[in-house]
Amino acid sequence: MKEDFQVTPWEVKGRVDYDKLIKIFGTQPLNKELLNKLERISGRELHMFLRRGVFFSHRDFDKILDDIENGRGFFLYTGRGPSGPMHVGHLIPFIMTRWFQEVFNVNVYIMITDDEKFLDEEKMSLDEVRRWAYENILDIIAVGFDPDKTFIFLDTEYIRNMYPLAIKIAKKINLNLVRSVFGFSGDTNIGLTFYPALQIVPTMFEKKRCLIPAAIDQDPYWRIQRDLAEGFGYYKAAAIHSKFLPPLTGFEGKMSTSRPETAIFLQDDPKTVRRKIMRYAFSGGQPTIELHRKLGGNPDIDVSFQWLYMLFEPDDKRIKEIEEDYRSGRLLTGELKEILIERLNDFLEQHRQRREEAKELVHIFKYEGKLARQMWEIIYE
Ligand code: TYM
Repeated sequence: MKEDFQVTPWEVKGRVDYDKLIKIFGTQPLNKELLNKLERISGRELHMFLRRGVFFSHRDFDKILDDIENGRGFFLYTGRGPSGPMHVGHLIPFIMTRWFQEVFNVNVYIMITDDEKFLDEEKMSLDEVRRWAYENILDIIAVGFDPDKTFIFLDTEYIRNMYPLAIKIAKKINLNLVRSVFGFSGDTNIGLTFYPALQIVPTMFEKKRCLIPAAIDQDPYWRIQRDLAEGFGYYKAAAIHSKFLPPLTGFEGKMSTSRPETAIFLQDDPKTVRRKIMRYAFSGGQPTIELHRKLGGNPDIDVSFQWLYMLFEPDDKRIKEIEEDYRSGRLLTGELKEILIERLNDFLEQHRQRREEAKELVHIFKYEGKLARQMWEIIYE
């Protein structure tokens, strides 16, 4: 079946149809029944990402819920490829992961794939990737993880502890498989063809089920993991998949560091935020004020509205008002953009403060925290 969009871990083309993607990838929709059960056993109001379908798909999340109910427990795993500055969309999986950690008090493993990005980005030196790794780790810590229950590691540093298991996994994956799953070809460097084995290792850090919050682009790795895990005496990884926060410029493709107009980066100052939103945020409004008042705007294709809905306006009542006002034409595109600019700048201001505090904590998350200390003692065979 040829689709007019494509999603791989390195590329998103076209406008993603998420219902179709569930079918193509063979995942399950994150339905009401599961969410109600989560709400019941957590005793908490669901996070806005869950209430609003930002996380929309899963594998074996039902089994995670059973594990919680039966007291078997689970652990969380997510990661980041440090190829440049992080944009606001990158925070979505980390915020979700933190929510699950807070609610269920479980361990979190955060893999920083300096190796992957060095291998994948033709022009990047390893030094450069490692500098971005440090910067990105500050952004990740700023999300608020528990220093005693969170281990953040760079692949090139933690490799000694993972390598024995990584080669065992690698031995079970042949070139034909990674060619078809990731689109590798004859001119792909051999480092990159090994890398998928490494991204799978942390799913086996504990003899419990692993839950991976990430955007849906990372799912191909979990497909391979799920074919192998039981042979190694581990559980198949469970995953919950988020949609992509769309590029500012409209729903095609994904936000990109090489095209700064498509994204808001976590370091963008208030002026830059205003300029980018005003200039680039794709609008679902009408061409003139008169027409807009008469016909109303379309929030479904309006990026400012979607950003508020997915990330920046947690108040359900308020977002509904905004939606209705925009649809009816009471709220103009310029006014909607002003709302986003304000919410976004508040968000980034808070983030910057927590990021400053994070500078004192890097060493703890990587080496000195309770979980980190344990992890440096373990060699995974
Ligand atoms: P990376 O650095 O490409 O992306 C980091 C995380 O952000 C998600 N993501 C997004 N989420 C919402 N909206 C967007 N527009 C958006 N763009 C990216 C990604 O899905 C990812 O969760 N190979 C990985 C690093 C990695 C990893 C992992 C990620 C290693 N182990 C386990 C997730 C889970 C990478 O390069 O991610």
